[in-house]
Amino acid sequence: MAITNISMFILPIVLLIWVSPAVVSDKCSPHEKKTLLQIKQELGNPTMLSSWNESTDCCTWDTVRIECSNQKPYHVSQLDLHELNLPGPTNIPTSIFNLVDLDQLFLFEMPNLTGPIPSQITKLKKLTVLYIFSTNVSGPIPDSLAQIKTLTNINLAGNNLSGPLPPSLPTLPVIRVIFADQNSLSGPIPESYGSFASKDLITLTLSHNKLSGKIPASLKGLDLYFLDLSWNKLEGDGSVLFGAEKKTGDIRLAGNMFSFDIGKVEFGRNISRLNLKHNRIYGQLPQGLTKLQHLTRLNVSYNQLCGPIPQGGRLQGYFAIDDSSFSHNKCLCGPPLPACK
Ligand SMILES: *[C@@H]1O[C@H](CO)[C@@H](O)[C@H](O)[C@H]1NC(C)=O
Ligand SMILES: *[C@@H]1O[C@H](CO)[C@@H](O)[C@H](O)[C@H]1NC(C)=O
Ligand SMILES: *[C@@H]1O[C@H](CO)[C@@H](O)[C@H](O)[C@H]1NC(C)=O
Ligand SMILES: *[C@@H]1O[C@H](CO)[C@@H](O)[C@H](O)[C@H]1NC(C)=O
Ligand SMILES: *[C@@H]1O[C@H](CO)[C@@H](O)[C@H](O)[C@H]1NC(C)=O
Ligand SMILES: *[C@@H]1O[C@H](CO)[C@@H](O)[C@H](O)[C@H]1NC(C)=O
Repeated sequence: MAITNISMFILPIVLLIWVSPAVVSDKCSPHEKKTLLQIKQELGNPTMLSSWNESTDCCTWDTVRIECSNQKPYHVSQLDLHELNLPGPTNIPTSIFNLVDLDQLFLFEMPNLTGPIPSQITKLKKLTVLYIFSTNVSGPIPDSLAQIKTLTNINLAGNNLSGPLPPSLPTLPVIRVIFADQNSLSGPIPESYGSFASKDLITLTLSHNKLSGKIPASLKGLDLYFLDLSWNKLEGDGSVLFGAEKKTGDIRLAGNMFSFDIGKVEFGRNISRLNLKHNRIYGQLPQGLTKLQHLTRLNVSYNQLCGPIPQGGRLQGYFAIDDSSFSHNKCLCGPPLPACK
């Protein structure tokens, strides 16, 4: 190799080291460092972020809260601000959305986090995990969230979110879990929630909101492991949520106004928890209940059920299922309730 070629290669490196040693040794790009310092400022310079300073590599500031990718080109892949004490009520810093290579964003257990989820969140085109829970964040769930096609896990539980369920969420192609319980979400469950594009969806929790209206018949197509719609104002034929072929393991519909004949329901054989209490469900409990080998919790109390309780399986004598599982119905009878007349 000619000497001129070697020096052409080495000279720029020598120059770079000489001019700016930080650029060469830092994993953190100057652009992302600036953004992180901006985020710190927008959060009101919390004391817990005192290690975030200009003079050091941002990838080493705080290995709990900031994770950088381990391959070039390095970038901030995870930002975790959970349980960060904010000096006062603060909105979600919009600078976060300039960390466009983020894979995971965690904002939870932050009582002083307020205001809406900014629509600029769609700038995070590579986000897979979004956790904003147990905060005072309010306003609607942005419909535009469905534009972040990489999302697999969304947790928005326990905030002050209001407004409707975005009809577009089911278009997310690889979504696995959605938690949106314990907010003030209102209006009906959109028809689109019966046809999620993702084959991997296993969990949907919408309990403790203000959802209302008839459950759409399209929800026949919803097949999850864990579905929690309890403590809303939902009505109509909740039987569409069941089916012998579904993978249901845990289904909770308690505290609504569902009204259907339970005698016609076929339960998936993997059901372990079935909570239907406090509804307007009628009819006679089906024999199929005795075939549920994994059943650990059952509560059908406070409905309008009638007739003999099927005998067998775990419906009698299983420690966690007792008379209170069946109480306050129209005329249910037989063990563990008093004998039928
Ligand atoms: C910057 O943070 C490091 C720890 O990451 C600390 O050792 C150093 O004193 C800080 N420098 C300033 C100027 O705050
Ligand atoms: C929230 O902000 C208030 C001031 O508005 C402050 O007194 C309180 O300590 C903050 N709480 C947390 C957990 O950061
Ligand atoms: C919301 O803020 C209030 C105080 O303003 C606080 O008591 C409450 O715990 C916060 N909620 C959450 C979920 O952090
Ligand atoms: C959040 O909701 C709770 C109860 O629903 C309410 O007491 C609180 O004031 C709300 N906080 C904000 C910041 O809206
Ligand atoms: C029930 O669970 C087993 C094991 O967890 C699984 O292999 C099977 O596919 C499930 N059945 C249905 C109908 O989802
Ligand atoms: C069933 O629900 C009722 C009403 O909420 C409750 O009192 C009872 O303890 C529950 N029983 C079981 C076994 O979960």
